[in-house]
Amino acid sequence: MGLSLFELQEKLKTWDGCALHKQSNVVLGEGDLHADLMFIGEAPGKKENELGRPFVGASGKFLDDLIDSIGWNRHQVYISNVVKYRPPENRDPTTEEKNQCMPWLLMEIGIIKPKVIVPLGRHALGNFCTDVSISEVHGTAQPYTDDITIFPLYHPATALHNGGLRQTLKDDFQKLKLFLDEHGITPSS
Ligand code: URA
Repeated sequence: MGLSLFELQEKLKTWDGCALHKQSNVVLGEGDLHADLMFIGEAPGKKENELGRPFVGASGKFLDDLIDSIGWNRHQVYISNVVKYRPPENRDPTTEEKNQCMPWLLMEIGIIKPKVIVPLGRHALGNFCTDVSISEVHGTAQPYTDDITIFPLYHPATALHNGGLRQTLKDDFQKLKLFLDEHGITPSS
């Protein structure tokens, strides 16, 4: 049998494979362990680093509202990040940092076994779909494996700072809802 999420978290606390661990708390994902819907952000920010939880700052509040807008709630999905530590001053994570942290995300996906993965923004998207940009594929289902569909969306922080994208992200969430409804994907709790 593979690791449980708790065991994964414990192991991650003692891991030193990414230099960011020296200056940040570790932030693993959280939510419904049986979720069919999984959201993946870029890296924790200030608030997430303080609390050791993903998406609990301003963009997390917006993400919660967007999830509510499709009739689900935060506890019915699983939310994680590509990079498990806060990059200094919230700079973009480097390719090296993303690659170093990627095995942890893959193990989370292996445990949760979501049917739909929503990469939020280009950093998360790049781990699943290469050679496409978020502006081309946001709000559209991208086949990935037999069991998993990728449904890329803009990052809520980007949309918070760009009024035009805010409405696009809200509209894309309704497209996500349509996709979930069409495929009979409902909250498991
Ligand atoms: N932005 C992210 O990408 N992840 C978080 O957890 C918070 C903000």
